[in-house]
Amino acid sequence: MARSIFVCQQCGYQSAKWYGRCPSCDAWEALVEEPAAPPRPRGAAPTPSPRPYPEVAAADVVRTSTGLPEFDRVLGGGLVPGAVILIGGEPGVGKSTLLLQSASALAEGGCTVLYVTGEESPAQLKLRGERLSVRSDRLLVLAETDVDAAIEAARRAGAGVVLVDSIQAVRCGDLSSVPGSVGQVRESAARFVGLAKATGVPVILVGHVTKDGSIAGPRTLEHVVDTVVQFEGDRHHAHRILRAQKNRFGPSDEIGVFSMGERGLSGIANPSEIFLAERAEGSPGSAVLAAVEGSRPLLVEVQALVGEPAHGSPRRTSLGIDGGRLALILAVLQRRAGLDLASRDVFVNVAGGLTIDEPASDLAVALAAASSLAGRPIPRGFTLLGEIGLAGEVRSVSRLDARLKEAARVGFDTAIVPASAHDVVVPGVSLRPVRHLTEALAAASLA
Ligand code: TYD
Ligand code: MG
Repeated sequence: MARSIFVCQQCGYQSAKWYGRCPSCDAWEALVEEPAAPPRPRGAAPTPSPRPYPEVAAADVVRTSTGLPEFDRVLGGGLVPGAVILIGGEPGVGKSTLLLQSASALAEGGCTVLYVTGEESPAQLKLRGERLSVRSDRLLVLAETDVDAAIEAARRAGAGVVLVDSIQAVRCGDLSSVPGSVGQVRESAARFVGLAKATGVPVILVGHVTKDGSIAGPRTLEHVVDTVVQFEGDRHHAHRILRAQKNRFGPSDEIGVFSMGERGLSGIANPSEIFLAERAEGSPGSAVLAAVEGSRPLLVEVQALVGEPAHGSPRRTSLGIDGGRLALILAVLQRRAGLDLASRDVFVNVAGGLTIDEPASDLAVALAAASSLAGRPIPRGFTLLGEIGLAGEVRSVSRLDARLKEAARVGFDTAIVPASAHDVVVPGVSLRPVRHLTEALAAASLA
């Protein structure tokens, strides 16, 4: 019997050999290698018996700290027994650094940690470890690309946590496809999931993702693992954001903020200061928004630059804000507030490389653009909050209280807010409730 088969991901067609095009449904590049299913055991399986709801025991999870409070926060409070976590991110963002720092802290805390390095040699890992002052002898390093061998080593060593760097570098010996292919990545992950579920040992897998998502591997894993966290940031900035995208054991969307320095990653408990650090205060086109990322409020700067009337079709470029949302806001500014933007180039950027996708940011985007067009800055100490509707109305935002408290903490004393928030009281912040975009422009002295 064949040890592996090729299965079309479109129609389910199975074949003993690979085809570039599925013979059944004609889909291209759709056949993925899978291990042949083991023969079904003879005899009837025992009938499972359901239990009445009150008799179902609540899970009493004991979480283990990763040693990095920002990482713990993203996971929902630490590692859960038997959980499998995928850390995705572009090469160079700092996944191996995060893993090694966490491995070191876990080992220092008395846990036996197995670090499976399939990509780098132990010497390369050591080089990184020296910078990070890794010492513990409870941290075990295994240079291995064979999944079954790594799992066997983890069992023998009695590892309490297993780290795999990376899932694209390891392979299952019984599949013929190359490491990093969809079939290998998926089956390798499934075997580590098997280890985690059978032994209760948490497993962290690293997966590389490029900006355009061209290495599809880790995407195909998202439903296999319990938690998916994305490590974001670019080489030109020191800060890194760890974001939960899926979490069976905690809130998704939670973020952790780190700064990459000479001696590795350090957690940043109060990120607002970092994102506002290099703000061009007092210059036109700069607006400050009190955003909420996960459970945590965060002040960020939205910048806009409005150009002279353009020849041909004007350009609209946005970084960190959805392009469709920007187009909508500009159209509302034009039609409902009479701003002459239709013929001009408009560039919008969220400083620090952050991505903001909540409608509460609309007012900051609109006022940044209006401020740039007018050539006048938004007054000092102002923060702006509100969703903008197509009629130019300013709509309410979630968690206003938390946002304003954070604004006050960082030194903002005036907030333009939706009219619905007129009765909110936050010490240190005076509110300017507005019903319409035109009122917001007047409140910021831009009308
Ligand atoms: P790395 O963890 O190797 O990234 P990944 O595993 O995601 O590919 O980190 C890569 C970058 O981080 C590299 O450019 C060097 C930098 N770095 C620091 O700036 N300081 C440090 O202490 C370490 C260990 C790495
Ligand atoms: Mg790496």
